[in-house]
Amino acid sequence: MDKLIITGGGPLDGEVRISGAKNAALPILAATLLASSPVMVRNVPHLHDITTTMELLGRMGVELVVDEKLNVEVNPTTINSFVAPYELVRTMRASILVLGPMLARYGESDVSLPGGCAIGSRPVNLHINGLRAMGADIEVEGGYIRARAKRLKGTRLFMDMVTVTGTENLLMAATLAEGTSVIENAAREPEVVDLANFLISMGAKITGHGSDTITIEGVDELSGSEYSILPDRIETGTYLVGAAISGGRVKVKNTRPDLLDAVLSKLQEAGGKVSTGEDWIEVDMQGRRPRAVDIHTAPYPAFPTDMQAQFSALNAVAEGSGTITETVFENRFMHVQELVRMGANIRVEGNMAVINGVEKLQGAPVMATDLRASASLVLAGLVAEGETVVDRIYHIDRGYECIEEKLQQLGAHIRRKPD
Ligand code: EPZ
Repeated sequence: MDKLIITGGGPLDGEVRISGAKNAALPILAATLLASSPVMVRNVPHLHDITTTMELLGRMGVELVVDEKLNVEVNPTTINSFVAPYELVRTMRASILVLGPMLARYGESDVSLPGGCAIGSRPVNLHINGLRAMGADIEVEGGYIRARAKRLKGTRLFMDMVTVTGTENLLMAATLAEGTSVIENAAREPEVVDLANFLISMGAKITGHGSDTITIEGVDELSGSEYSILPDRIETGTYLVGAAISGGRVKVKNTRPDLLDAVLSKLQEAGGKVSTGEDWIEVDMQGRRPRAVDIHTAPYPAFPTDMQAQFSALNAVAEGSGTITETVFENRFMHVQELVRMGANIRVEGNMAVINGVEKLQGAPVMATDLRASASLVLAGLVAEGETVVDRIYHIDRGYECIEEKLQQLGAHIRRKPD
């Protein structure tokens, strides 16, 4: 397995360009299944999860043409199978996102039940309950979700918990249902809004996306369209934390400052001078050591759980003591033990980590357990004394396009060691 070798150094300084958002590209590629003619999706990030999704669609007979700029033309009309097999779904839980569109468009869909992962059990009961409420006949047997429906019926869908992909699956399914659906307690993440905008570009009738109540008036057919994915706010936040943790200056381009209010205010609290333009954000620490901040994760627009691990690394070397409270997932402190092995002073009590900043971390061999935990270990390695070797970085390749090249542009001493 590839490893990343990082030698701790001075402040990062430079500019990086942000890729399309992984968590918008995944539902949007799944949503192409709803179309009755070819669809062009632009600004798709070059990530392992995207490759897996394209392999999954290809396995179902969908034709995909990818150009060198990773614009993807999808022709869903050639589909010849409605099964999302275990060997693909187990490598990427987000495969569950084909369930809603396939069922709505073709009346049948067999999707392997996604397993849990390092950060939690991550059940999909809300996806299944919602589709059943829309009239689907769903059996869960032999590790598969087997769903059938002549035509889904619009209805009121109250979500017990805010779920991003749960909202997305039901939003997609409702676009072709008979009658009107209202999703209450819906997720408000920008990626949900991007998916809704994509569906509208195909002719869907949706209002309220971005709020906690989304109304969808079912239509008979959705046509192909051309759409460009929004920038990745978590990739953006990760590189900005790179500036904060190293006392440096980083400008991220091709991004959207309005997607990161909660993160930018915490970076300011940590001592960063934050400036923004229409499609760029700069954090300049002016050589100062960051100040510790308190983080409390919750659904958008609150502080995103996907930025929690990165801020754990920031607090590990900050001045003072900060607390990190994780309220979305039940086991998202896997990075803490690895940071402690690098000399961090962190105590976990239930869903809260209390972090007392230390002057310097020590480089060490560490292991990535999930996508954002990997990012936090890389960030810690950038400022640790000596060499840090991050193992199992297939996690990081799922969500960060060319991370070592982008960090090298910022002056980091990082290289990939293929195994
Ligand atoms: C999405 O996961 C993202 N993935 C995650 O990003 C992100 O961390 C998460 O939303 C929260 O923002 C994609 O969009 C592909 P949830 P998702 O359903 O939809 C519980 C990354 O790093 N729940 O919003 O799977 C669940 O267990 C990844 O890019 C149920 O109980 O998350 C969790 O505790 C990691 N039953 C909470 O809700 C359900 O049916 C929120 O999960 C669904 C969810």
